[in-house]
Amino acid sequence: MTDNILACRVGSVELANPLIAASGTFGFGREAAALYDPACWGGICSKGLTLRERLGNATPRVAESACGMLNSVGLQNPGLAYFMQNELPFMAGLGPRVIANAAGHSTEDYLSIVEGLAADPRVEVIELNLSCPNVAEGCMSIGTDPRQIRLLVEQLRPLTTKPLWVKLTPNVTSIATAAMAAEAAGADAISLVNTFLAMRIDIRSRRPILANNTGGLSGPAIKPIALRMVHDVYQAVKIPVVGMGGIASAEDVIEFMLAGATAVQLGTAQLVHPYLPMQILEELPPLLQELGFSRISEVTGQLKTY
Ligand code: FUM
Repeated sequence: MTDNILACRVGSVELANPLIAASGTFGFGREAAALYDPACWGGICSKGLTLRERLGNATPRVAESACGMLNSVGLQNPGLAYFMQNELPFMAGLGPRVIANAAGHSTEDYLSIVEGLAADPRVEVIELNLSCPNVAEGCMSIGTDPRQIRLLVEQLRPLTTKPLWVKLTPNVTSIATAAMAAEAAGADAISLVNTFLAMRIDIRSRRPILANNTGGLSGPAIKPIALRMVHDVYQAVKIPVVGMGGIASAEDVIEFMLAGATAVQLGTAQLVHPYLPMQILEELPPLLQELGFSRISEVTGQLKTY
């Protein structure tokens, strides 16, 4: 058996490589599977799941921006029951670790969703979405308040022995404080960052381009801020950090891991280049060698600050 130098682990979760398809950019894997074998990923994360089906926000809900894009999808998804019956079997058959992103409008919602996901052995990780900026209740409104983060995660923790990752919003003054609240409540890992609340304007109509007025900015434009936040959180907590925010190359993966990430999520860049995970996986081994690392797991936190 050959040694897999790209293998890593996020707490108890072993990944064949550090690349995870980010929630909301991969659906449930069906579109990717029509193009390539999604088994190449270390993990795949579902679209944010709510208790009931959501049609999402009014259109237009995507707008391009320099080096990035804004989305105001509004958590369009088929709802938990449909997911469990129709999408989870497909996702679980793809091979990578299955991560379900759970989004709620209220504490009761989160309790029901986590309870539902916890009951199925095919769900390997639950990622709590405390960060979607495009809905009026739940998600980001919880994730911007460390007290609410702690209260919610404390209520969810006893419902499952599965790894609970908390996905944080960058729309806060101190992301480290938010991460510490999640850790204190029993989170197993912190995923960061979700999108930055943002706006674009059509100067002729004088209207926002997005029908929701605002949306979340993602893509390479946010990478330096995301990196700084990953590093802040890495220094503040003991649990693993899953980094994301504008990753589009093998070099970007290494940057996030040096800053403290144990694994990373690829999102927006996949929309431009669907085959990106395979390209990155080819480029990582020679890059590791060039940088003097013998395995990817050695990279985490090796940043030398001044
Ligand atoms: O609007 C959306 O569906 C975005 C979700 C998220 O950022 O998690």
